[in-house]
Amino acid sequence: MPGDTLPEIDFMSNTILVGAQWGDEGKGKIIDVLTKGADVVVRTQGGNNAGHTVFIGRQKYVLHLVPSGILRRGKTCVIGNGVVVDPVGLVEEIKGLRKLGVTVDGNLFLSETAHVVFPYHRELDAQREVIKGLNKIGTTKRGIGPAYGDKAARTGLRVIDLVTPEKFKRQLEAKIKENNSILRALGAKPLSFKEVHRAYRAAGDYLKPFVANTVVLLHEAMDRGKDILFEGAQGTFLDIDHGTYPFVTSSNTTAGGACTGSGIPPHRMDRVVGVMKAYTTRVGEGPLPTESAEIADMLHAMGREFGATTGRARRCGWFDSVASRHATMVNGIDALAITNIDGLDTVETIRVCIGYRDGRKRYDYVPNDIEVLSRCEPVYAEFAGWRAPTHRARTWKQLPPKARSYLNAIADLTGAKVGIASVGPGRDQTIFV
Ligand code: GDP
Ligand code: IMO
Ligand code: MG
Repeated sequence: MPGDTLPEIDFMSNTILVGAQWGDEGKGKIIDVLTKGADVVVRTQGGNNAGHTVFIGRQKYVLHLVPSGILRRGKTCVIGNGVVVDPVGLVEEIKGLRKLGVTVDGNLFLSETAHVVFPYHRELDAQREVIKGLNKIGTTKRGIGPAYGDKAARTGLRVIDLVTPEKFKRQLEAKIKENNSILRALGAKPLSFKEVHRAYRAAGDYLKPFVANTVVLLHEAMDRGKDILFEGAQGTFLDIDHGTYPFVTSSNTTAGGACTGSGIPPHRMDRVVGVMKAYTTRVGEGPLPTESAEIADMLHAMGREFGATTGRARRCGWFDSVASRHATMVNGIDALAITNIDGLDTVETIRVCIGYRDGRKRYDYVPNDIEVLSRCEPVYAEFAGWRAPTHRARTWKQLPPKARSYLNAIADLTGAKVGIASVGPGRDQTIFV
């Protein structure tokens, strides 16, 4: 691939890559690029609510559960214990990849202890959103919240159960019974045990060859000196602890989640890369202080910023350095990968949020009270746009000077250095700084 080079900075050893905003920062693209220098790529949280887009040439791949590293031959990919897995969805994803000629045999592994997402989780997800009405979260309706809920309540079923047929049958029967009574009470249609059992048994059989003790597998890989790349899903402000609760997902999307979701201890992690767009997007409900119709209309008119999982139009806004500074703090970001720089190519004056104002009170951090955050008005600094195409730039010097100033300014405000600048979805449209 032209331009398919690796950076001078050592991005490898064990690297955690996290979304530093509200998800969809371009993690899939950056993971694909960095996988070149890694041996193992691991997903550690989330489920098929994630949609990670990778372009290789003209071919577009959207990964939901399978790590984006699968697209490079010879790399080991692991779906770790912290992920919630919809087995039927995963089978479809694997079949889709096989159809496109991607190798999965012998290089894709699924944790025995990952929790399983069932149709009642999806149904409950949808019903809870209806009940919430105007206060809905705007979930992906993939059953993620209810599945993590079962995990926390210690009533979930795991992959190891799915692939143990006799036990699984008994467990599923009880779970369907329990959940059907809840669904009936909510006025929703109960599920057929027979149908769910048939579909999940078939998926279990298909997935069995991939199932492994991934904690042991990862530690053995480390003992052999292999480098691991941890592929975060969602983003910092969707984190169950550090996000804009309750408008969040149900897992730890921040760097700590990579440890608990894989079984790799913190002291074995070497660095954290934070991926962020040169502006901000969010899909679903909840506060987005810098939201701007102007930038949303511009990006949507370019056919950009439609969700990779649900197809929903993403909400868009200016870069928010209050938020990105917070992301650096909670993740310990060493280097930034700034994507979608080309999205700002035509903007005359670019705004960057440098503080929030709620009446007379000014914040230089993200307030925890969701009502306060929703009321906050951004305080902006302005930067002259570069008004030139950037998608052909392949070195830092080839970027327009005003683009470089902008990137340096947002990195300074964020408190981390720029490691990667991305000017298009392609592998080659990546600048190592
Ligand atoms: P993820 O969930 O973080 O992996 O991000 P998504 O794949 O959901 O959304 C990011 C979108 O931006 C995808 O369509 C990518 O192909 C695209 N993308 C990533 N980096 C760039 C970039 O630098 N420029 C452009 N134009 N598109 C990019
Ligand atoms: P990637 O990995 C963007 C959002 C949903 C909703 C909230 C809760 O592609 O960046 P959930 O279905 O998880 O219960 O929804 O989180 N959300 C995402 N937004 N990117 C994602 O993943 C997301 N995964 C969940 O839109 O607001
Ligand atoms: Mg996405």
